[in-house]
Amino acid sequence: MRIDVFTLFTDLVDGFCSHSLLGRARESGLVDVRCHDPREHAHDVHRTVDDSPFGGGAGMLMRPEPLVECIESVEPRRPLLMLSPGGRRFDQAMAGELASLDGFSLLCGRYEGIDHRIREHMVDGEVSVGDVVLAGGEVAACLIIEAVTRLVPGVMGNAEGPVTESFGESGLLEEPQYTRPAEFRGWEVPEVLRSGDHARIARWRRAQALHRTVTMRPDLIDARGGLSDHERRLLEEFPPVPYP
Ligand SMILES: C[S@@+](CC[C@H](N)C(=O)[O-])C[C@H]1O[C@@H](n2cnc3c(N)ncnc32)[C@H](O)[C@@H]1O
Repeated sequence: MRIDVFTLFTDLVDGFCSHSLLGRARESGLVDVRCHDPREHAHDVHRTVDDSPFGGGAGMLMRPEPLVECIESVEPRRPLLMLSPGGRRFDQAMAGELASLDGFSLLCGRYEGIDHRIREHMVDGEVSVGDVVLAGGEVAACLIIEAVTRLVPGVMGNAEGPVTESFGESGLLEEPQYTRPAEFRGWEVPEVLRSGDHARIARWRRAQALHRTVTMRPDLIDARGGLSDHERRLLEEFPPVPYP
């Protein structure tokens, strides 16, 4: 998978993408992340990439010429998505869509944003990482790259992870999980997980995933059409583990 990122802070994105799973995926050639700096395409001595908005208003905007030249210099992998608070909300489903492509590109804004002609003529879509305003698109780009690339076959050691975890095929949040030691400061791992009874463990896990989703994200339960009778019985069979 090839990902081109257009950013005034190439070191920031490149550095983030050099660690952990993603860093190893880049080293092994599974993922090719390339960062491109529009400032390299500015023509004045000060390498200016911003200017004040027509009609007045607060802050500066990214000028179109360095961005267009930068984008055209590399034949970015499509779709070219612009990071923007007003874009389509990024979620696990969109991560899956992007992971099925052989590549895509991200355009990071700075200042008060980007000249609208770039949206009109250069990009294929806009994507937001939530109803919040960041100072720039770089953190959003890193979030998207991490979420997408871990779904690329071979990037994660455990191929089942993306299927069983939160927002996976079940449409539920993941159940609480525990590791050794079985008891720590008097805090015990639920007895059922140590029982060796795999059928009961599977029912407990499902019940806890349901409890957690009903409590934390009832909208996800509604989205899958509510609870089945079988699921209601599971909730009765296993009470929820404590939450803060
Ligand atoms: C300070 S923001 C500009 C916000 C813009 N003036 C507005 O009100 O929508 C600068 C850049 O950060 C990025 N950005 C900020 N918040 C974002 C979000 N929630 N999702 C994706 N990108 C975001 C975008 O690339 C944006 O062009």
